[in-house]
Amino acid sequence: MKIVSLSENKNIEKRVAITPEIAKKYISSGFEVFLPKDYGTHIGFNDEKYKSQGVNILENEKDIIEKCDLIVQLSLPTDSILSNLKENQNLVGVLNPYVNKDKLKNLSKNKVNAFSLELLPRITRAQSMDILSSQANLAGYKAVIESFAKFEKAIPMMMTAAGTVPAAKVLIVGAGVAGLQAIATAKRMGAIVFATDVRMASKEQVESLGGKFLTVEGAENLETEGGYAKETSEDFKRKQEELLSETLKKIDIVVCTALIPGKKAPVILKENMIGNMQSGSIIYDLAAVQGGNTALTKVDEIVEKKGIKIMGDSNILNKLPISASTLYAKNVFNFVTNLLDKESKKININLDDEIINKTLVR
Ligand code: NAI
Repeated sequence: MKIVSLSENKNIEKRVAITPEIAKKYISSGFEVFLPKDYGTHIGFNDEKYKSQGVNILENEKDIIEKCDLIVQLSLPTDSILSNLKENQNLVGVLNPYVNKDKLKNLSKNKVNAFSLELLPRITRAQSMDILSSQANLAGYKAVIESFAKFEKAIPMMMTAAGTVPAAKVLIVGAGVAGLQAIATAKRMGAIVFATDVRMASKEQVESLGGKFLTVEGAENLETEGGYAKETSEDFKRKQEELLSETLKKIDIVVCTALIPGKKAPVILKENMIGNMQSGSIIYDLAAVQGGNTALTKVDEIVEKKGIKIMGDSNILNKLPISASTLYAKNVFNFVTNLLDKESKKININLDDEIINKTLVR
């Protein structure tokens, strides 16, 4: 079996889908690995490192595509690459199936098997392949680091001869994977942490990390069977607004992580609510690309309103691409291993396997 990965557009994606360590694992499992020149040089994975693991470095992208059985990527490749894919070739990545619906339908029509890793079921067997968790975990950590770096006061309480510096108060909106890591990171750095979510199961998780959970009074548990959030009712939104408007008056830093799979992110912090915060406060919006959890978020910009800074990156994982690639590449390797028939070691699209069935885009 021949596996390849093509260079991403490095202006928007610095992560790679095959690290030198993972290339070695593919080769040990019987794959031949092909990568284009300078595939990972920008993050310190130079061609020599890959070659020393047994990777074939090629000049011409077209030759690589023709050779391969399997392409592993971050995002969906360009149209010109997609048009060169042939029957029975396989593509694995974060293909954004809600946005790229037509392109993926076309691939399916041409009998190219495209697997989108956002669609992985959250079952125990899929945990080692769960790119949403591995990347959200890092994103939650980095969002705290980014917002703390912009905050112009100290984070932990300090009692000194010159007086006491109070601990910063942090609010995490959305306590899923990213939110829980944000809570843990902020706590470790000495902040007082509050968090809120629409899923009641998250209350216990927030409290186990030392955070204070803010419950929207009288709200039902808005959790789907798959463990995700449902869209909230107008009544819920009003109650949540009341609760957060009051809370924000005493909060220094907000990290927003609230998402609803396949939908635009809910706008939770309206302009008037942000106006309740004190000058010098920071909001980091991890949902920026999905439309933002605040009414003022602008992707890749720092918006300033009455001394409050609101920020959100198009891809925060570009700020720790080595860690993110290391976890992502391992997730993909585990996914690919599961695609292989145990005896023939060839790709076997076994639709009875829930992991394969749910990720194959048709
Ligand atoms: P996500 O990234 O889709 O959403 C982030 C968080 O925002 C969620 O906790 C969601 O409830 C919350 N949210 C949505 N709308 C909101 C609103 N209006 N106000 C406040 N909060 C709002 O979710 P994520 O982080 O991917 O996790 C979702 C679920 O998946 C959780 O139940 C988690 O435990 C579960 N999970 C299961 C895994 C497994 O392998 N079994 C692995 C990872 C996560």
